[in-house]
Amino acid sequence: MQPIDQAFRPLASRRAGALTGRVRVPGDKSISHRAFLFGGLAAGTTRISGLLEGEDVLATGRAMAAMGARMKKDGDVWIVDGVGNGALLEPDGVIDFGNAGTGVRLTMGLVGSYDFAATFVGDASLSRRPMGRVLDPLRLMGVQVVARSGDRLPLSIHGPRVAAPISYRVPMASAQVKSAVLLAGLNAPGVTTVIEPVATRDHTEKMLLGFGAKLDVTVDAEGARHIALEGQGPLSAAGDLTVPGDPSSAAFPLVAALITPGSDVVIENVLMNPTRTGLIETLLEMGASIEIADRRNEGGEDVADLHVRHSQLKGVAVPPERAPSMIDEYPVLAIAAAFADGTTLMQGLDELRVKESDRLSAVAKGLEANGISHVEGKDSLSVTGRPDGKGLGGGRVDTHLDHRIAMSFLVLGMASEAPVTIDDVRMIATSFPEFVAMMAGLGAALEPGSRN
Ligand code: S3P
Repeated sequence: MQPIDQAFRPLASRRAGALTGRVRVPGDKSISHRAFLFGGLAAGTTRISGLLEGEDVLATGRAMAAMGARMKKDGDVWIVDGVGNGALLEPDGVIDFGNAGTGVRLTMGLVGSYDFAATFVGDASLSRRPMGRVLDPLRLMGVQVVARSGDRLPLSIHGPRVAAPISYRVPMASAQVKSAVLLAGLNAPGVTTVIEPVATRDHTEKMLLGFGAKLDVTVDAEGARHIALEGQGPLSAAGDLTVPGDPSSAAFPLVAALITPGSDVVIENVLMNPTRTGLIETLLEMGASIEIADRRNEGGEDVADLHVRHSQLKGVAVPPERAPSMIDEYPVLAIAAAFADGTTLMQGLDELRVKESDRLSAVAKGLEANGISHVEGKDSLSVTGRPDGKGLGGGRVDTHLDHRIAMSFLVLGMASEAPVTIDDVRMIATSFPEFVAMMAGLGAALEPGSRN
């Protein structure tokens, strides 16, 4: 039997009727990390509104403060005074990124081209995740790495006196790897080029341009994106920066409303950047009633309000090439699929194995515990639904320090016949601290669960 960690906080979710109301999800996590990173680097003052104050993003803020950036809050606005490109200070002591993969990988890139040492640590989940994908291109730029257990945390890096600009073809679909190389290139002389055969979220490119970086994107005959960045140029503060609502957080109330009979929910101000909207596209194909209202542009990004009503979903095959635009949404899509008529097939999921947990395995085990018919493959998952939710639920789910596993299975409990308990609610604070209160406000029934 596994020992019970007394710090764990189990939470149970049970069916309690329709979800109704209007909500605003917190700021986008990817953009919030980058707002602290680039605001902290660029010369001058950046004022950030709508920042996600999740633990992951706050860790990135502390890292930038440890390297010389100054940040304070004025009401709801974060005011960041940056050091200027090339002028980060050597951090004193270790930098603890907790659960935050994006934070640590982008920061390793950012400081990798500096002639000083930086040491990174994280929680048990982050210490299991592969860092070689970022360290390998950094090594090509001249970075020394000292790691005790393979390319995993805890580890230290030390940049060369002058970093070598490189041209790097990213071997997996990863915005974090792309971004880490570009950020290292900011402090390397000459042009650093990242070649991205499969397009991933483009927040780094867009935001660096907004901060005045010289960056050029072209697409070759094979459709690969070539992102060329001129290093050692000035970066200047973006002035006012507004972070739109996170589509990866919106996914939870969205799916909850779709599967809970009678529901009618509006989710305001959701980022609609096409590199992030794969889940909405898939749910629409499944027959979801999602009205995309008041499309507008805010601070260079498209946003919209989503009007969602309970819908009878049908199973679909999700094209594997859509994976990068919905990579964080497969756990909650699996929950939607559990209520669809027929089978939903998800393929091209290899990257899910190296997220905050092995998400493919964690989802499959959670489905198993709750009586949901599914098949787990090496990089695929198929789920066969029960539209009335009959016989579903009743399980206890191990969340493996993974916020999205936690939220996905709480959403399951909102519509399944029997309640669902997750072993630990704490990690939800890394990306969506308001989740429990927001869902309760819509009518969900969430209460402390038993420890066994
Ligand atoms: C992110 C990129 C994705 C995503 C993560 C955020 C980013 O990771 O899963 O939540 O902000 O760049 P990968 O780069 O590992 O695909």
